[in-house]
Formats: sequence, structure tokens, C-alpha cells
Amino acid sequence: MRHYRLALLGFGNVGKALSKLLLNKQEELTNRFNLIFSVTGIATAKHGVAIDPMGLDLSRALVVDDLGSLTRQPTPRDSCDFIRRCGANVLFENTPVNYETGQPAIDHLRVALESGIHVITANKGPVVHGYQKLKKLAEVKGRKFYYESTVMDGAPIFSLFRESLPGANLLSIHGVLNSTTNLIFSLMEQGESFDESIKYCQKIGIAETDPSGDIDGYDAAIKLAVLTMVLMDFPLKLSEVKRTGIREIGSAEINQAQSLGKRWKLVCHAERKEDGVEAWVSPEMIEPDSPLYHVQGTSSVVQFETDVLGLLTIIESDPGPQTTAYGLFADFLNIVSNHTL
Ligand SMILES: NC(=O)c1ccc[n+]([C@@H]2O[C@H](COP(=O)([O-])OP(=O)(O)OC[C@H]3O[C@@H](n4cnc5c(N)ncnc54)[C@H](OP(=O)(O)O)[C@@H]3O)[C@@H](O)[C@H]2O)c1
Repeated sequence: MRHYRLALLGFGNVGKALSKLLLNKQEELTNRFNLIFSVTGIATAKHGVAIDPMGLDLSRALVVDDLGSLTRQPTPRDSCDFIRRCGANVLFENTPVNYETGQPAIDHLRVALESGIHVITANKGPVVHGYQKLKKLAEVKGRKFYYESTVMDGAPIFSLFRESLPGANLLSIHGVLNSTTNLIFSLMEQGESFDESIKYCQKIGIAETDPSGDIDGYDAAIKLAVLTMVLMDFPLKLSEVKRTGIREIGSAEINQAQSLGKRWKLVCHAERKEDGVEAWVSPEMIEPDSPLYHVQGTSSVVQFETDVLGLLTIIESDPGPQTTAYGLFADFLNIVSNHTL
């Protein structure tokens, strides 16, 4: 029986959903994968930190207000000190995304890899701003840096290319990658105003208090940059993605599209050119014969054009923290199936 020690840095929607999934799958992990796990550390910003080399009680961690009540260890100085002291061999980094710099998550992943710990993250920031260096560091240290949940939550995108499409060259990417704007357009088609639709998205927890990351296209652009960088092996900077948000699309534009039998979508494109890759995000009227037309609400879709398969389309229906958690869980199983610790 193999035993893995896990640490969770960030214990919000995603960290908690992952914990519930790990608890639900505990018996299956033992019976099907011959492995057991313990969680030796959990760290947050304002809800305390807990470290126990013998394993924390994860069910209790899910209900206490202050994680500090679960530990007798001295409180780490900061997140990097936590990583060095948590005694884990796999770190899940699920702190909030920083669009501008990717920090402090880049430092979290760097310190973990330097300490010989595999890293798994749903945080797009360190991938878009630190991919090349973190990938190289992981190789040098003989550890894995996986990030399946950064784009389309638990849907297999990076593992698909890594494991199942050897020798395929990606020529273009087209897709609807931002759930909030897609739901806003769906609600506006049902007669809601732009502002009412945003308020609804905030109420159900998919849009932040400041929704500009979604409606100005930053979230879509960062996902597109991550896909381009990893799958097209092109060092695209986030600032190089041309970006137009959805603020100009009001009820009149929605009605006009409907009268033409079309729908508005915030569409991401990346196309390989002779001198690199061109990438852009903008609202577009979509024809009903496109797979993008039928993806409504919080669902998302991506189309990959390769030199060998033509168009390959992946649709993810109604994602949430639980599907993001599955992407992290799948990364964990993919790492430990191919790696002895
Ligand atoms: N929600 C989704 O479905 C989804 C989907 C795909 C990707 N993601 C990505 O997953 C990540 C986590 O999302 P989430 O929804 O779980 O966010 P969240 O609910 O805001 O949770 C973030 C967690 O990180 C902690 N934290 C913040 N700064 C920290 C620091 N410097 N050191 C240690 N802990 C820190 C917070 O502590 P406190 O609890 O004390 O505030 C909180 O526990 C984000 O990068 C997000 O973009 C989320």
C-alpha cells in the first residue's frame, strides 16, 4: 500500500470541494489504486493554518472556523514556511488568481518544487506568468507540475494532449471559456437586463463583487493564454491577447441577434501563423450551425484544430467547484500512477 502525504494551500470553494472528494473516494483509492493518503497541512489567509505530520482530521477541518484549533505546531511565518514544514509530498495550490503577476502562487509552487514536492494547481496565474520556469524546475527536480483545472475545470484538456494525442500539432483553438459571460448572455436572451444578469451571477457565486475580470474578458484571455502556452508551446504573454469585453452588448444587440436566429458569445481564438500565434477574445454573433451556439448558461466549449484530426470539440456542462476538484484529483492520480515517491 502506498501512502501519500498531501497539503492544501488555499481552503476556499475549491480546496474544500477537493477535500470532500478525497473523503468520498478514500475507500475507492485504497481498493482500486492501492493507496492511502493523509493531509498533513492546510493553510489559508484569514482562517488559520494547521500542520500535523500524523495527518489532520479532514472532516473536522471542513467544519471548524479556525484551522489553528487543529494544530499544536507553531504557526508558520508565511505560506512558504508552511510549504517547507508541512511534510507533504503533494501540494495542492488553490489560492486566488493574480492576473497581473501570478504571485504569490508562483513562489508557492517554486518553493514546493525546490523542496521535492509535486505541485497541482487550479490557479491560472502561475501558469500564465511562470510556466516556463516552473516546468523547467519540475524537470530538474524530477517532480510534476500539473494544472488540469486551470481551464474548463475538470474536463480533460492538458492530460488529453499529454497522454492521448502524441505527435498531433495544434493549429488553432476556438471556444467559449468564460462561464459568467455565457450565463449573462443566456439570461439576457430570457429578458433580463445586463445589470440584473450580473447581479444574478454574483448571487450564485460565479461572479466576484467586482465582475470586471469576467466582463472585460481577462478571465477568458488568461485561459486562452494558458492553452496557447502549454498546448501550442508558444510563449504568449497575457498582454499579447487582444481583448474586448462584453460591456457594449446590451438588450438591443441581444434582440437583434435573436431576430437573425443567432446568439452572442464571448469567443476566444488562437491561430498559428508563420511567425507565431495570434490570440484574441471578443464578443461575436454565432450562427446556429456552430457547436458554440448550443453551449448555454455556465457551460463551456473548446474546439481544437490539429494537423491529424481536424476539429475536436469538448463541451463541459454546468461546471462548479466539484468539477474543478475532480481535475485536481485526476492530476493527483495521474502523478502517482506514473511516479514512485
Ligand atoms: N471556483 C471554481 O470553480 C474555480 C474553477 C477553476 C479554477 N479556480 C481557481 O482556483 C483557485 C481557488 O478558487 P476558490 O474559488 O477556491 O477561491 P476562494 O474560495 O476565494 O479560496 C481561496 C483560498 O485561498 C486562501 N488564500 C488566499 N491567499 C492566500 C495566501 N497568500 N496563502 C494561503 N492561503 C491563501 C483563502 O484564505 P481565506 O479562506 O482565509 O480567505 C482561501 O482559503 C483560484 O485561483 C481560482 O481562479 C476556481
